[in-house]
Amino acid sequence: MAKKIILDVDTGSDDAVAIMLAALHPDIDLLGVCAVNGNLPLKNTLENTLRVIELVGVQNKVPVAKGCARPMVKDLLPGREHNPYTKPYKIDENGNYIGYHHPYFDLPESVTKPVKENFITWYIDTIKNCPEKVTLVPVGPLTNIGMLLRADPTVLDNVEEIVIMGGGHAESNHSAAGEFNIWADPEAAEIVMQSGAKITLVPLDCTHKVSRVSRSDFGRFKEIGNPVSDFILQLLEDRIAGYKAIQPGAMEDDESAALHDVLCVAYCIDPSVLDNLLTTRVDVDFSGGFADGKTVIDTRHNRDLPDNCTVAFGGDREKFLDILLDACKNYR
Ligand code: RIB
Ligand code: CA
Repeated sequence: MAKKIILDVDTGSDDAVAIMLAALHPDIDLLGVCAVNGNLPLKNTLENTLRVIELVGVQNKVPVAKGCARPMVKDLLPGREHNPYTKPYKIDENGNYIGYHHPYFDLPESVTKPVKENFITWYIDTIKNCPEKVTLVPVGPLTNIGMLLRADPTVLDNVEEIVIMGGGHAESNHSAAGEFNIWADPEAAEIVMQSGAKITLVPLDCTHKVSRVSRSDFGRFKEIGNPVSDFILQLLEDRIAGYKAIQPGAMEDDESAALHDVLCVAYCIDPSVLDNLLTTRVDVDFSGGFADGKTVIDTRHNRDLPDNCTVAFGGDREKFLDILLDACKNYR
């Protein structure tokens, strides 16, 4: 039986690949996708999500909802965190945009409209009306999920698991302390961490290794040669350029890029793609200091607070790649 999932996305290049994998893989029943402000403003993340849904041809099957345009509280206090942070793009000497997430994908403007209901109503109805438990897969800031759990925590009665791309233990990206998704809305992330849901966290310590795609893998995508595999190669070119310009040294080889979000969907398809799992206590700092947005992953044996999360620190990159490539072949 295919696993019922809802993706929450800030589309974004790796979000786009996560949506395509979920839409194309037979072991996933993608109940819907909700866009959130994150990599780009909501206007962009929503439009990019709709364009990808149309590229894969599932616009009549997979509804798209419009979520939050701002974090829950973080942007109310200008200069709240002391750490400077890394902008996710650069403009080169010729005025070219170099970054992971171009404002709009080079795909036809969308014609599909998002669902009319408020995203909270849509989430509540979609989850509560599903005959099986639903897995939530947030791969952007957790604003939408935090708001949903504040509005109606009883949705968790029909939620199997929340699989989050976010956080970092020994690794970070957006600031010295914060991985982007968690940094962008730390309060929402902590609401989720304290919700009592079954949570699997896939942090940068895992995605940088396991979801890394190298230029030497490109031939396998070229062999497929359809609009989905071709689009993934375009996105990988942007991401490799982004890593070179913004995060040199973050990848094992500088002709590669992590497809962070995709690994969460791959885990929903085959949990054995992740390993080195640690069930422990995780909280998110939202004190607005140097650690603002840090996932505090307790590695002690004598923990003071109850465990609330399973963190993945490793996995199988070849298995990840096979899952993605096999799904690309399902495009019709
Ligand atoms: O830090 C990586 C995460 O931030 C990914 O979800 C990427 O899409 C961005 O949202
Ligand atoms: Ca994302």
